[in-house]
Amino acid sequence: MAHTCRWGILATGWISTKFVLDLLVDPTTRNVTDVKHQVVAVGSRSAESAAKFVDSVWTEAGVTEGKDQVKRYGSYDELFSDSNVDCIYVGSPHSHHYAHVHAALSAGKNVLCEKSLTVNAPQAAALIQLARDKSLFFMEAVWTRFQPYSYKVQEVIRSGVIGDVVAVQAELCADFTSQSDEHRLRNPYLAGGALLDLGPYPWTQLALLLLPPSKTSTDPLPVPKVAASVLKTSTGVDSSVVAALTFPQADGRLVHGTLTTAQDRQTAHTRCVFVQGTKGYLEVAFPTYRPRAFTYYAYDSVEQAGDPSAAPIKSETFEFEPRPADIWGFGWEADEVARCLRDGKKESERMPLRETLLMMQVFDEIRKQGEFVYPEELETLDFAQ
Ligand SMILES: *[C@@H]1O[C@H](CO)[C@@H](O)[C@H](O)[C@H]1NC(C)=O
Repeated sequence: MAHTCRWGILATGWISTKFVLDLLVDPTTRNVTDVKHQVVAVGSRSAESAAKFVDSVWTEAGVTEGKDQVKRYGSYDELFSDSNVDCIYVGSPHSHHYAHVHAALSAGKNVLCEKSLTVNAPQAAALIQLARDKSLFFMEAVWTRFQPYSYKVQEVIRSGVIGDVVAVQAELCADFTSQSDEHRLRNPYLAGGALLDLGPYPWTQLALLLLPPSKTSTDPLPVPKVAASVLKTSTGVDSSVVAALTFPQADGRLVHGTLTTAQDRQTAHTRCVFVQGTKGYLEVAFPTYRPRAFTYYAYDSVEQAGDPSAAPIKSETFEFEPRPADIWGFGWEADEVARCLRDGKKESERMPLRETLLMMQVFDEIRKQGEFVYPEELETLDFAQ
């Protein structure tokens, strides 16, 4: 019997729409038979917008079954007090995550919250502590980690086929220059900027390959050394970030990861991640958040890897079906949440809270070096909003 996770959706914007569309697709279409999803409630700031969301999303999905039973709440407090909800999905702008997650956890609800989890590391640490104190499940919604691509690229790298990893470059740039100053990527009051919005994806690619195999320990991970350069938009948020991060490895080596993210240009479709090993290299095809394919090239020696006339001794391309049954790609992370709740886990081994905290610590340091602060009411641990 498949275990059913009953979801309550907080906020009705773009990302919630995509996430719910994936929840409405039968998981067996991606060969998942042990868990299922049911959306039981949607909360918005008005009952009208909650009702509108249900009408439009269920229509887009072509689903009628269960639609009438979905509760449409005009306040988040009503959503939190619905005893049928197993887990709240927080899809509000990141400027509001801290307050919304705090309220959900305080009301005793498990939470899956969109990335970036918060605006800064102290807020992330406070929410993680709250979830642990209340013994609730809590996870940052880094969907890329749960896609088949991510497991496979780790398996290939760990097989040693390109030797030891000596450097990784990861990038997500998307051109938002035609957007207005109110757009969430440009607006400082919505915690705009490339880093918090797009930066989690190149970070995730680096984390998958350069952090120790994930464990749900509460011991903090050492924060990589950061050397960053930040360019700003006219609205004062980051338009372009390049950061060199130094990751200590289990064998004592230090390995460079380069994180590039920007909203003033576009990453080439051919390559978003480049892994250099001692005996070859590996390239990942765009997009960084949902890669389509990767190829590795293995050589006898490091000299041959740099020789244009030398053919690799082994090379293989892996292609993925990133959107089975037309899902956006969020389905796999939802499956993980359902399994964790079924098994009584309070965090995911695949997306541990200490790695979420680590990302926020690195992002804080990047912003510090770039002299980039958000309005005080967004950076605070108080609840002015
Ligand atoms: C599901 O499994 C079948 C049989 O192994 C395979 O052909 C198919 O590609 C899989 N579908 C997905 C979306 O993984």
